[in-house]
Amino acid sequence: MATFLGIDIGGSGIKGAVVNAADGELVSERLRVDTPQPSTPPAVAQAVKTLVEMAAYSGPIGCTYPGIVKNGTMLSAANVDAGWIGCDGQTLFNNVVGMPFIVLNDADAAGEAEMVFGAGKGKMGVVIMLTFGTGIGSALFLDGKLVPNTEFGHLHMGSKIAEARASARVKEEKDLSWSKWGKRVNDYLTHLERIFTPDMFIIGGGISKRFDRFIKYIKINAEIVPAHFFNDAGIVGAAMAAAARFPDTSAGRKQPDPKGRSG
Ligand code: BGC
Repeated sequence: MATFLGIDIGGSGIKGAVVNAADGELVSERLRVDTPQPSTPPAVAQAVKTLVEMAAYSGPIGCTYPGIVKNGTMLSAANVDAGWIGCDGQTLFNNVVGMPFIVLNDADAAGEAEMVFGAGKGKMGVVIMLTFGTGIGSALFLDGKLVPNTEFGHLHMGSKIAEARASARVKEEKDLSWSKWGKRVNDYLTHLERIFTPDMFIIGGGISKRFDRFIKYIKINAEIVPAHFFNDAGIVGAAMAAAARFPDTSAGRKQPDPKGRSG
């Protein structure tokens, strides 16, 4: 079984699990450490190292980042420390953790997981995956092929960007009711639909578990479905990216330490 560690870096938590790259299923428990504040590159790299040690894993690692990533370098930092901009995070993680890394945008990873094993499996045409969390992440697919780093959460709607009106964080911070927040999400999806006429929207992020609470406020033409992997989609997609990037590596977890040390 080809298993790879997938790590999902978010604004408040860094989550990870070992994933079977052949079916996207988690084969270890889901681990979490807090995202250090401030979330500078060296501090986050140390937290990633801690998580890898907790997983008792050695091998190639796929890791998401909540911003634009091009060839391993971070080009934006909307919800993390600005020190990430221009940082070669992939090389930093390689050096600090001492294992090969591939780094990609969090929503792109989540979208890949959903298109290959989840809610978008086999779906042709235009599919937009959106993750509602601290920000709004997006992944655009045409016939299953990703257009990376789309950043639709930063589309302007009135005087604000979409994620400043309709992210899950805004719902929580402003204590918006499902109906108030649902209407904001509906405005956003209507806007996206006017621009892209997608065949399907896949809704991810932690809030996707509560899909039934807000779907009644969504009045769009495209099919709309919750993510199959809910908030784990980023972890799964990260592990899939490692499997694709390091196909010949025999990865895997170390045998559990009999003394129960977790590193
Ligand atoms: C970032 C995206 C990211 C999303 C979800 C946005 O603020 O610009 O790159 O995918 O948050 O984390």
